[in-house]
Amino acid sequence: MRDIAHRSDPNRKAPMSQSRDHWSSNAGLVLAATGSAIGLGNLWKFPFITWENEGGAFVLVYLICIAAVGLPIMMAELLIGRRSQKSAVGALKDAVASKWPAGRKLGGLVGGWGVLAGFILLSYYTVIAGWSLYYFAQSVGWTFGGFPADLSPGELFDAQVGNAGLQLALSLSFSIGTIAVVYFGVSKGIERIARIFLPILFGILLLMLFSALSMSGAGEALAFIFRPNFAELGRDAVLEALGHSFFTLSLGMGAMITYGSYISRKHSVVKASGAIVALDTIIALVATVIMFSVIFSVAGMRDEVGGSTVGMLFISLPELFYTEVPFGVVLGPLFYVLVALAALTSTISLLEVVSAYLIDERGLTRHKATIGAGAAIFVFTIFAALSFTGTPILSTMEVFDGKAGWFSTADHFVSNWMLPTGGFFITLAAGWFMTREATKSELVDGTEPGWFKYGAWRFFIRWVAPIAVAAIIYFVILGVDFS
Ligand code: TRP
Repeated sequence: MRDIAHRSDPNRKAPMSQSRDHWSSNAGLVLAATGSAIGLGNLWKFPFITWENEGGAFVLVYLICIAAVGLPIMMAELLIGRRSQKSAVGALKDAVASKWPAGRKLGGLVGGWGVLAGFILLSYYTVIAGWSLYYFAQSVGWTFGGFPADLSPGELFDAQVGNAGLQLALSLSFSIGTIAVVYFGVSKGIERIARIFLPILFGILLLMLFSALSMSGAGEALAFIFRPNFAELGRDAVLEALGHSFFTLSLGMGAMITYGSYISRKHSVVKASGAIVALDTIIALVATVIMFSVIFSVAGMRDEVGGSTVGMLFISLPELFYTEVPFGVVLGPLFYVLVALAALTSTISLLEVVSAYLIDERGLTRHKATIGAGAAIFVFTIFAALSFTGTPILSTMEVFDGKAGWFSTADHFVSNWMLPTGGFFITLAAGWFMTREATKSELVDGTEPGWFKYGAWRFFIRWVAPIAVAAIIYFVILGVDFS
């Protein structure tokens, strides 16, 4: 009863606590959630896996996964949150209990699994985010002092990640920035930062796109990305595309449930989902076009890039900005600002998942929750940071074949195990445990756009999405790696 009354009037005072903070507008929600989605996944992971999987056909499969699995689950997470007005644990309890009251515990466990995923993901994500601060500082130096002719970008990178003190300082700075935003809450912290940073991020990307498209490699880059060649497409690539669509949209761990719980009744879940998914996808493609145009413009660069995930962003690009890219001396530092901003709007949503749990379920104040969670997570950030510095055990541990070190172990576990399993249960909660009336009243409430068909969503969330996700989990169990 309390839920229903609470739900029907978001401004009503909740018993014993202050009323729940909400996004101030639909645009605020879309910007904050898009900020969560756009991150290192778009700028660092997507270009790399597109590269590895030979472009075209992989990109097409990825787009299909985004539309057929990502979009319906985005709507499911936001609606579960909006309906219960609680963060991941409480909202999933309510969702499962709507048809099966005894299932509250199970719903709570799924939510708890998501909170744990957020905790772990944030602990290592911060390390890469910290690198963007380092490269920002370096590139400002190069812009004013010139790019040293004898500098080896590979050696610079190795020295950077190998320096324990530097790694800790960078990731601590990033953690403090994240905590500072979440400390101020939903509308005054997270939404305000997203409103300022996302337009800057779009602006920088647009400038870079113009510059990149003027380079000689642009045509070849566009062909690589958009011309499908199905001969190159293997089963692993399909799974990788599906796994990445969870990661890039921040799905499978209750982040969007949490953000959905701050949507008031006036704002549309369907419109917001469409905008978030479209923006995230466009940005990933634009980032890829930019990077490949630069790389294809330089003879021999294709072969050099090959090796590692970090290679493109932190080894090949810095030098190319100062040797090849038109206006690179300006765009270089701006690019690393872009990476840092994109990462920050993602880390704040990760910290929000953990904090909101502590606030809603454990009764902590926001200030205590953000500082406490932030500090606890940073302890694990130390492990992740030190796993690049040749530290015994942290650098060498190997739980999953070929994933040496704490960092890679954590990333593999979250991306390949936690997000797909969490996502699977979320599809069941929305498609099978919630009643048709409940989901329909959230999606079809007069705010939805004309293209939306409730019956189609229900078919995708009950059948297409869970079967596709179950297929990933099955292959993960068989040991196929698609991180
Ligand atoms: N979507 C983020 C990116 O592309 C990463 C991410 C995954 C995430 N799950 C999340 C961010 C949950 C915030 C919340 O970089």
